[in-house]
Amino acid sequence: MAAASNGAKTQQQQDAVDQNFDYMFKLLIIGNSSVGKTSFLFRYADDSFTSAFVSTVGIDFKVKTVYRQDKRVKLQIWDTAGQERYRTITTAYYRGAMGFILMYDVSNEDSFNQVNDWSTQIKTYSWDNAQVILVGNKCDLEDKTVTTERGKQLADQLGMEFFETSAKENINVKEVFERLVDLICDKMSESLEADPTSAASKGTRLKEDPGDNEISSCAC
Ligand code: GTP
Ligand code: MG
Repeated sequence: MAAASNGAKTQQQQDAVDQNFDYMFKLLIIGNSSVGKTSFLFRYADDSFTSAFVSTVGIDFKVKTVYRQDKRVKLQIWDTAGQERYRTITTAYYRGAMGFILMYDVSNEDSFNQVNDWSTQIKTYSWDNAQVILVGNKCDLEDKTVTTERGKQLADQLGMEFFETSAKENINVKEVFERLVDLICDKMSESLEADPTSAASKGTRLKEDPGDNEISSCAC
């Protein structure tokens, strides 16, 4: 998926080989099968969407470079398979991830009920300081069964920020990635203040994001 077909280099291929960046963040998208992880990544990286469901086998990734607070940040975004049988492979990639998008489907109770388990997996297999955003995807659907309030409550319990999104209608997709990058940058700045000799010391103090406690939900 990271590579494209023949011909001129795509923006993604250029991003993948480009060594000119201030930071590189490894991000993972996790959650039950069919919640829309791959669709979410395709929407963000390629601005495309397809209704066909092709379940991910194992793991895949895309690269995208963004500019946040005067810094060039290269994102390596890993799209994991939600199916249980790939769990051993996918959890091996949690190590070193700085941010997670934990996704459920607002029209699928099971996927919401599994959020606690996914959160435990993050605690078990990832770095302690990893930032996590809870995302209720498919908010364009009319048969929504998990209300915004329940999503928000669970996010509060787990100490995560919360967004409702639609990969299909392109609602809050970019916002989730931007917020995650800001959370990681803030965490890095905190570590830097605590230990100015750390490896991150080439960065400067990054500005606070005004939307710190904002909950973004879909109006549909
Ligand atoms: P696995 O790879 O098996 O873990 O699934 P996944 O989480 O990657 O799901 P995927 O992105 O393949 O999407 C599953 C199905 O949901 C597809 O048919 C998508 O078209 C559909 N879908 C994804 N996002 C949305 C959304 O925001 N709204 C609606 N209505 N459908 C969506
Ligand atoms: Mg997938």
